[in-house]
This record gives sequence, C-alpha cells and structure tokens, in this order.
Amino acid sequence: MLAPETTALASFRSVSYASAGDRLLSDIELTIARQGITTIMGPNGAGKSTLLRLLAGLLRPTSGTLTWHRPAGTGQIETAFVFQRPVILRRTVSANIRHAISPLKLPDAQASRRVDAALSDCSLEHLRDAPGRRLSGGEQQRLAMARALARQPDVLLLDEPTASLDPAATNAIEQIALACADKATKVVLVTHDAGQARRLSNDVIFLNAGRAVEHSPAAAFFNQPLSQPARDYLAGRITITDT
Ligand SMILES: Nc1ncnc2c1ncn2[C@@H]1O[C@H](COP(=O)(O)OP(=O)(O)OP(=O)(O)O)[C@@H](O)[C@H]1O
Ligand SMILES: [Mg+2]
Repeated sequence: MLAPETTALASFRSVSYASAGDRLLSDIELTIARQGITTIMGPNGAGKSTLLRLLAGLLRPTSGTLTWHRPAGTGQIETAFVFQRPVILRRTVSANIRHAISPLKLPDAQASRRVDAALSDCSLEHLRDAPGRRLSGGEQQRLAMARALARQPDVLLLDEPTASLDPAATNAIEQIALACADKATKVVLVTHDAGQARRLSNDVIFLNAGRAVEHSPAAAFFNQPLSQPARDYLAGRITITDT
C-alpha cells in the first residue's frame, strides 16, 4: 500500500461499477493519500472519469466500498469537480462563481470575499464583469477552477482540465493546482499529458480496461512503469483493451 491508513483520505475496497450491464470499473483496490496531487492516467475508455465520478459522489459503487477517512471532529469531506468542458452559465464571471457557492448559504459579505479570492487565485479579476460565455477556452477553464475553489473543497477533482489549452493557459491551471495542494487541498487529476503528470504528481494511478493496474510514486511510475499496459501507454503504443 502506498500510504499508511492514518494518512489515507479515501479507500476503495473491491469497488466495481457497472452501468447497463457494462462493467466500467472492476475490483478497484486503492488508497488515496490525504496530501498532494494524485494523478489518474490510462487510455481512452479506461474508466478514469468514472473513478472521479465515484469520488465526487455522482455515482455509487455497484459493489465494494468507497470509504472516506475523516479526522475526528471534522465535518463531511467536500469535493469539487472541474470537468473537461465546463458548462459556463449565461451570466458574468463573478456571478458564475457566486452561483457555485449559493448552496452554501453564506452571509453576503463572506460570499463576496470568497468570490474575490477565487477571482484573484485564478487571475480573473480583470474579467469579473465579463459575460462568462465570451471567455476564451483557457479563461473558461480558469473560471471553472475559480468556481470550484470558491467552495473551499477538501478535494479538488480535475478531469483533463487542460486538454484543449495552449501552453500558457495550461501552465496557469497547473500553478492553481499546485497552489491548492500547497494549501492542503487534495487534488486528484486525470490527464493524458505525461509532462503535466510529471510536473504535478506525487503518485500515479494507472487504469486499464476498468482495472487499477498500477499505483506508484510518480518518479517510479515514469522511470519504470511496472505493467505492460502502462509501458505501452507511455510509449504511445496502442493497446487493445477488452473489458
Ligand atoms: N453511463 C454509462 N453507461 C455505459 N457505459 C458508459 C457510461 N459512461 C461511460 N461509459 C463507458 O465506460 C467506459 C469508461 O468511460 P470513462 O469516461 O470513465 O473513460 P475515461 O478513462 O475517462 O476515457 P477518456 O480518456 O476518453 O476520457 C467507456 O467505454 C465509456 O464508453
Ligand atoms: Mg474521461
């Protein structure tokens, strides 16, 4: 096991997930550490987004258990999800952020402070009154991050957040993710970008055909992946997956 249970944030025990008879995840055994950035890699269709959706509570395991380990005396663990193609509401940038925290029912002044902090953290102050839908792809992705951060989650779940962004916009998102991890927000990142995974990850989970075939410290994973599917993936070879 990568992390002792005392530092575990979440554990998957024999977790499987099926939809309409298709097994999308099978017998997942994983421990997610409380600290740092955990990256999930694997070919298209491997089940990465499905795993993130389980972590977000958007899906429930069909069998097995996903357990969150809360330190004594703390409340429920809150997650926030940033999707690859964020849905931006037809309102201003700041109103998009405010809408994201409206379920928290914060006093007005506190909500405003959160919006301002999120705008600042994501370098969006100059666009606060711009219509969200007019932003560029990179700016929209920063807005999606700002909406997530304003909720002050314990866990930030990022599903290919830089897939269609240029290097500068990608770097901006990476810096936000690193700053989050520095402030003890757990980050779970899905990416196909091996350079990004090397830059950001503490550990890498490699999924193939619905199975977690490898979970290693990042340096070990990139220096010498243990499994053939991971070696093939990193080498850019096509693997035939059969669930
Ligand atoms: N609701 C669903 N019902 C049936 N099959 C689904 C459902 N959602 C996803 N799938 C299938 O499950 C598999 C895993 O999907 P998932 O989106 O988790 O893959 P992924 O690893 O995120 O892939 P990508 O890299 O392309 O984003 C895919 O084959 C997908 O077509
Ligand atoms: Mg996906």
